[in-house]
Amino acid sequence: MPAVTSSTAASPSSSHATSSSAFDPKEVTVIFVLGGPGAGKGTQCARLVEKHGFVHLSAGDLLRAEQDREGSEFGEMIKTYIKEGQIVPMEVTIKLLENAMRAAMSSQAGEAKEASATTAIPARRFLIDGFPRQMDQAIKFDESVCPSKLVLFLVCPEETLLQRLLERGKTSGRADDNRESITKRFRTFVETSMPVVDYYRQQGKVVDIDSSKTIEEVTADIEKGIAPIMA
Ligand code: C5P
Ligand code: MG
Repeated sequence: MPAVTSSTAASPSSSHATSSSAFDPKEVTVIFVLGGPGAGKGTQCARLVEKHGFVHLSAGDLLRAEQDREGSEFGEMIKTYIKEGQIVPMEVTIKLLENAMRAAMSSQAGEAKEASATTAIPARRFLIDGFPRQMDQAIKFDESVCPSKLVLFLVCPEETLLQRLLERGKTSGRADDNRESITKRFRTFVETSMPVVDYYRQQGKVVDIDSSKTIEEVTADIEKGIAPIMA
């Protein structure tokens, strides 16, 4: 598969990176935020950004931006996958994420340089929302970009998710917030994305969060869940 585009293609790996992955786990902390469609991933990530200054990268948002980018060779393909609730081939999504991580790292390096040449740069913390959604994405990202430290898994009954998505669909303008696409997204979640959660559970990385609760309650539970790696 060719690079996402010349304008979004990754630059050569950072000199600090290990030979196998693009980012050194000492320099970046990655938390994956998973859960069914409508579980509140985006909402909760926005709150964590405000409180802790995470860099929030939503795989779905990056794909929608690439879909709308003029001249993208993947626009039509992404559009079809999203409408059908299917998982876009991982090469595209991983490249978009890697580019966005790199951009965040270099803007931070610029800030640190301005502040003081001797200031140690703290590890950049990333919340990666809606990714990985398929086993191949999980294995490839862990291997070639950076292994995650924690996986927040937002658990919510399907009936609640359906109601939330139909409500959101009134104003979201999203091509997949309709009954037909939602049904397909639920199926993909159960068949394709749940094995990813199970895989990380076996590694002891998963923190389950009941996201049927109120926004404030969910945030409070997430705070408790991430506390061990925030120290
Ligand atoms: O996370 P979000 O609901 O915004 O994702 C919307 C759609 O984007 C998914 O249903 C899927 O078609 C696509 N997607 C993907 N791979 C990901 C994340 C999202 O193919 N890792
Ligand atoms: Mg989202």
